[in-house]
Amino acid sequence: MRVLKVLGIETSCDETAAAVVTSDSLVLSDVVKSQIAIHALYGGVVPEIASRDHARAIVPVVREALDRAGTRLADLDGIAVTCRPGLSGALLVGLQAAKGLAWSTGKPLIGVDHLVGHLLAVFLRRGAEAPAGPAYPFIGLLVSGGHTALYRVEGPALTDVRELGATRDDAAGEAFDKVAKLLGLGYPGGPVVDRRAALGDATRARDVVPTSMARRDSLEFSFSGIKTAVARHVANRPEPMSDDDINDLCAAFQGTVVDALVRKTMRAAELEGLTRVVVSGGVAANRGLRERMTSAGAKRGIQVFIPPFASCTDNAAMIAYVGALRLAAGERDGLDLAPSTRTALLRVTRKGGGARASREHDHPRK
Ligand code: KG4
Ligand code: ZN
Repeated sequence: MRVLKVLGIETSCDETAAAVVTSDSLVLSDVVKSQIAIHALYGGVVPEIASRDHARAIVPVVREALDRAGTRLADLDGIAVTCRPGLSGALLVGLQAAKGLAWSTGKPLIGVDHLVGHLLAVFLRRGAEAPAGPAYPFIGLLVSGGHTALYRVEGPALTDVRELGATRDDAAGEAFDKVAKLLGLGYPGGPVVDRRAALGDATRARDVVPTSMARRDSLEFSFSGIKTAVARHVANRPEPMSDDDINDLCAAFQGTVVDALVRKTMRAAELEGLTRVVVSGGVAANRGLRERMTSAGAKRGIQVFIPPFASCTDNAAMIAYVGALRLAAGERDGLDLAPSTRTALLRVTRKGGGARASREHDHPRK
């Protein structure tokens, strides 16, 4: 079959991104303009500011992606764009840009679910020699600032992806960001907590951080209790924390989050009878998570795939790739494609569901 070349556009949150990728997953260009410095002033993403910055950046970013790929619009087979989930105003900027390009060139428009993009980013080949990623089916753990969930991934289509369990409250990355804010470490919190954790001793702060999620066999996550415990500890201290105390607390917090992520991912693989695990999303950059997931997998004969950092965090290459696969399957969308704040994947976990909802939704296949 002919290899297709697709432009991808991603503006769901605080990265303006564009990339050109082929249907056999070769990344020809991958441009990401982060807004982190702007939002850092506010300690988190401000939706209105995100939309405005996307509007400023989108045309130069798309142009750079085409230039770096040595591709003209006329050479493309289609235009893929993230249409869900994300901030409405932010998604709209990417969608309108993609529609304008699709309309003016007559190329097909393909909407992509951001979460499917993350789950398939492991297949991206950054260089012709790069390996092509795992065989289907696999367990996908998606851990980012907005999402934390486990999936059974049978193939690239929406209907091939089944949620096994998700967070009932905060996403893991959100917990890292909130704890970093409480400790005065700035935004985003993940990278700095990761660095500080490597310098600390978790046992010295073990009493502060409760174990995440009481029900060990559930595939759902909960991180808000850990965050609240850290907040209470910080508020109750008479004097500011020393650097060593902060390092110890980061080590204990990160250890607890990583433990929950690894334990439940391994449990999902066991329940589903699968021997391949893929970790993706920004938190997959965490050194503690990478090490513990890899060693837990090795112990159980489970292959663990963690894409390079550029494929873990938000990018448009994963969107272009999923778009190219949809296009190759004969799918496309109309110019009336609208954004949605929700994923198109079927959800089994209710946010804020509490113990009863959790029991109802444990192991949905049984
Ligand atoms: O996937 P991503 O770039 O954006 C979305 O949320 O979709 O993920 C960003 C999240 C942030 O919460 C950030 O703090 C977290 O990933 N993160 C990390 C690390 N690097 C980034 N969390 C833990 N350890 C890291 N090294
Ligand atoms: Zn993301």
